[in-house]
Amino acid sequence: MQIKKHLRSIVVIAALAVVPGAALAAGGKAEHPKHVHWHFAGPFGQFDKEAVQRGFQVYKTVCASCHGLELVSYRNLGQKGGPFHLDECPAGIPDTVDCSNPNDNPVVKAIAAEYQVEDGPDDSGDMFRRPALPSDRLPNPYPNEQIARLANNGALPPDLSLITKARHGGANYIYSLLVGYEDAPDTVNVAVGQYYNPYFPGDMAPNIKEEFLGEDGYPVEGVKVPLGGVLAMAPPLSDGMVDYEYDDVPETVDQYAKDVTEFLAWAAEPKMEARKALGVMSMAYLLILCGLIYWSYRAVWSDQKH
Ligand code: HEC
Repeated sequence: MQIKKHLRSIVVIAALAVVPGAALAAGGKAEHPKHVHWHFAGPFGQFDKEAVQRGFQVYKTVCASCHGLELVSYRNLGQKGGPFHLDECPAGIPDTVDCSNPNDNPVVKAIAAEYQVEDGPDDSGDMFRRPALPSDRLPNPYPNEQIARLANNGALPPDLSLITKARHGGANYIYSLLVGYEDAPDTVNVAVGQYYNPYFPGDMAPNIKEEFLGEDGYPVEGVKVPLGGVLAMAPPLSDGMVDYEYDDVPETVDQYAKDVTEFLAWAAEPKMEARKALGVMSMAYLLILCGLIYWSYRAVWSDQKH
């Protein structure tokens, strides 16, 4: 009886372990993301501020025409840990201004002012457009989902605010997707407006050309279903398309992809550095506390004979 009871739990546990695996396997396979050594990885990792700045430039120049970043406000760019944070004002700004306050940060104000946002209604009830302020959020390029889909072959470009958290593989996946576009193998069809990418999780089985399918509907011997899938985003990056002010940084797809991914990782977790600093402080505190407790334990029991 006892064994039977256990057996049942074992079967249930085994089934629970197998079911998600089976579900994943059904979705087709993608290439495992490339591994990049990110500055921000690990318990002590911090963002490389210049990389995040460059990444913002890539986002602004390339990705912003299709992807919004609606959870990020301009002022976030100037807050502590942000790419344009200033401890002190640059020369020429009066002492009364506190540039460490992101709302008064001149770089952030200048970035915001390049954008137009809708505001209103004004006194006569009309909506109007005005230059953005640090308190405004980065806009979505499309007024609504339908127009976004219309412009992108039916696909919706996702908001990128949390994308490095929202995808399996995180930053490594985003980087791999951006650099990983390839010509599709000859064995598959790719529709107009679709692009093959071995890192994009999809299922290429339905795309196998008919001539490579046997009578049973499966690929003939020697023909493999390629890894990855097709997506509606054309390869967005090309060498030299963004002008960096830094002379020593290459203007290549690889570098752009790394920088924009570092920027997106920052956008998804702008307070990461503060969180890690708190973690280190807590560990140090606990270590000292451990020492104190051990010392008091020794002191309390010191008069006891073994
Ligand atoms: C011309 C419009 C366009 C541009 C420019 C563009 N994208 Fe996209 N992007 C799309 C569309 C459309 C999709 C949705 C594709 C789909 O689901 O088939 C997408 C999807 C994505 C995804 C999600 C992939 C997934 O796993 O679901 C990421 C990440 C992404 N884009 C990042 C970027 C980055 C970073 C840039 C700038 C370097 C960029 N995109 C530029 C249109 C664009």
